[in-house]
Amino acid sequence: MGNRDKLIIESGSSILVSQGKIMKISPEEELLEEFAPDMESGKSNLIDLLNVNGGAIIPGLVDCHTHLLWSGDRSNEIRLRQKGLTYQDISNQGGGINKTVNSTRKASKRELESIGHRNLSQSSNYGTTTIEAKSGYGLSVDSEIKILQATAALDGIDHNVLPTWLGAHDFPKDKKPSEYMDELIHEQLPLVAENNLAKWIDVFCEPGWFNLEQTETLVKNAKSFGLKSRLHVDEFVDSGGLSLAAELESCSADHVGFSNSESRDKANKSGTMQVFLPGTPYVLGKDLGEGIQECLDNNWIFSLATDFNPNCQTLSLPFVASLATHRIGIDPLTALVACTRNPASTLNEELENCVGSIHVGGPADFNILNSKSIDYWCQTPGVSPISKTFFSGSIVKSE
Ligand code: NIG
Ligand code: FE
Repeated sequence: MGNRDKLIIESGSSILVSQGKIMKISPEEELLEEFAPDMESGKSNLIDLLNVNGGAIIPGLVDCHTHLLWSGDRSNEIRLRQKGLTYQDISNQGGGINKTVNSTRKASKRELESIGHRNLSQSSNYGTTTIEAKSGYGLSVDSEIKILQATAALDGIDHNVLPTWLGAHDFPKDKKPSEYMDELIHEQLPLVAENNLAKWIDVFCEPGWFNLEQTETLVKNAKSFGLKSRLHVDEFVDSGGLSLAAELESCSADHVGFSNSESRDKANKSGTMQVFLPGTPYVLGKDLGEGIQECLDNNWIFSLATDFNPNCQTLSLPFVASLATHRIGIDPLTALVACTRNPASTLNEELENCVGSIHVGGPADFNILNSKSIDYWCQTPGVSPISKTFFSGSIVKSE
């Protein structure tokens, strides 16, 4: 994941872009000679030239775990945590996911779309061009469908937006758990699948939320409708969630903070990507964990993502990677692979273009850094390291 010789093209190259795709990557003089033979004082009538002044260019970032659309405010929860209440205590007192559900149910589809545009402009500012977006703050047929329809309206403008159905984020307060399981399987799932509103199912598999048996039932039912899975597992304790995700051949298992080594090995063998979300333990005041280092030590593939949600309000992968580099000690190139090529490998089957790397024939999704050094990409936690972002050949962020 951190092989500089294999992964970095040295300086002096130029990229030719046409119709949203990368057509050529060659030494600057060669490209200019072939495509801008008329060039005079830095200008050509044949092609548009952009001089990046030696700025390093990295792929469009890929955020493979976000809760993109929700409404409301949970900033009161910090004081509760500071008094010693746990995530579960806050949820039991009427805060947590169900509080956000109450406000998101009241928002119209149009309001959610405009929240989505606002959130996506943040994500563009930090260089993300492909983003996974979960539902999960509706927890009823109408509200889950509303969120997924609003999500669909956001795709292709300045990001690839890939939807995941997370009806199993929590049990709604107005239904018995068994009734809600029935609703998920017999009402939400068929509607989501038949209207092609999601590519994956996700389940919050954690003691106190969905147990292993319920998770397995949901994933198997979704599979029969053609939906693959990406799961929330082992966020607070090791409940065997990662091991189950590996057995179910989920595309990804996310959080995985408390998973054991045997499960990590199993996931690596079954092709289930471990996705670490260090922004979440950061805002919850917890240790960032040793899982990432363990993956590196054992050569187990992993990804990083933001987990943007009402508690963890960041859509900045450079910030998340800063946690991984500054606080966990992984190297910046490894962090970049964990925010591009690796998460892309869990999403690319659902995309027309293969995202996550800069390659000829691929989409022109890339970022120009405010530095000649690639390592700069995750060394500015509070500001964006990026001067320009291209999505499908168009500039979507420019300083
Ligand atoms: O991934 N843990 C479950 N879901 C989100 C948080 C949801 C919330 O607290 O609103 C997560 O961290
Ligand atoms: Fe999450």
